[in-house]
Amino acid sequence: MRAVILVGGYGTRLRPLTLSRPKPLVEFANKPMLLHQIEALVATNVTEVILAVSYRAEEMERDLGAEARKLGVRLIFSHETEPLGTAGPLALVRDLLDSGDEPFFVLNSDIICDFPFKQLLEFHKNHGREGTIIVTKVEEPSKYGVVVYEEDGKIQSFVEKPQEFISNKINAGMYIFNPSILKRIELKPTSIEKEVFPYMAQDGELYAMELTGFWMDVGQPKDFLKGMSMYLTSLRQKSPEKLYMGPGVVGNVLVDETAKIGKDCRIGPNVTIGPGVVLSDGCCIKRSTILKEAVIKEHAWLDGCIVGWRSVVGRWVRMEGITVLGEDVIVKDELYINGGQVLPHKNISSSVPEPQIIM
Ligand code: GDD
Ligand code: MG
Repeated sequence: MRAVILVGGYGTRLRPLTLSRPKPLVEFANKPMLLHQIEALVATNVTEVILAVSYRAEEMERDLGAEARKLGVRLIFSHETEPLGTAGPLALVRDLLDSGDEPFFVLNSDIICDFPFKQLLEFHKNHGREGTIIVTKVEEPSKYGVVVYEEDGKIQSFVEKPQEFISNKINAGMYIFNPSILKRIELKPTSIEKEVFPYMAQDGELYAMELTGFWMDVGQPKDFLKGMSMYLTSLRQKSPEKLYMGPGVVGNVLVDETAKIGKDCRIGPNVTIGPGVVLSDGCCIKRSTILKEAVIKEHAWLDGCIVGWRSVVGRWVRMEGITVLGEDVIVKDELYINGGQVLPHKNISSSVPEPQIIM
């Protein structure tokens, strides 16, 4: 089977991380976001994954090539010369998708869950219509595509980012379609949510399958951290042996084996520590992601932070309130940072008591 992953967005809501790396390559729980999805697709017998890219394709080709070979999956990069939205990219690879009547998967690239692709395929084959989308329940539906459907899953209406409350069931960003959907899509910038789904629903050709288990769009820092906590909780249930055990650990914590952890640290709950990271003696980290090769010095205290690749957080620093350090940032000793978004390669030498972007 084939799958298309939409990886063309600019990832602006995940800045400053996406100033250094395209969003799908940002590591979520120590693995590029995209790799979580590709692995799950491979487990469902997908042998070809088409990556629909509109910018920074070279980095993705370079970083994912080796991983794909290991998994035995063929990656095909489809380059857009102008961003084609969420439907246009399917028209661009029409020839690859239109062979026979085998359905194909389509995914947004910034979502994390226990991907239920096998059930999706079965559900889709059972109702026999043109498309199935996975839906989930959220508290703030206005940020998403909202779906109203009947008991058997038949969708009555699909409204992208509605101003007024319609329902709390939303499009989770994972689909399976029969090739006949391609007749609805022209090769031009097109939104699948606004220009395709509403019409498929009208025709009775679009079904919804409810997701059980956690789900999160991790395309912005707050949700990234929330999604990380959910992911770790799910990992605790599925493969607890992957979680870190050691002195000072509280709750669910994931630590790369090449990270170095000093004495008397307190780590967790809900922390991921990337490869080559150094946590110095006595530091305290909660609800945070520390990316590759960052250094946290003695007695630093972090809660609700993402620390970018190779950044250095000084001694006795206190950081909280969804602070995000870009790549290679240095925070001097003893500072307080609250909700700072710090652009790559900056040196911070005074405290940031209120949320702000530091450039
Ligand atoms: N190739 C390509 N070209 N991909 C694109 C383009 C483009 O021009 N524009 C966006 N994408 C990709 C993004 O990289 C992302 O993987 C996906 O399309 C969706 O774009 P987002 O920008 O993340 O959309 P959203 O989060 O506001 O809303 C979408 O996801 C929600 C679930 O997380 C919609 O599909 C909603 O209906 C849905 O509820
Ligand atoms: Mg998104």
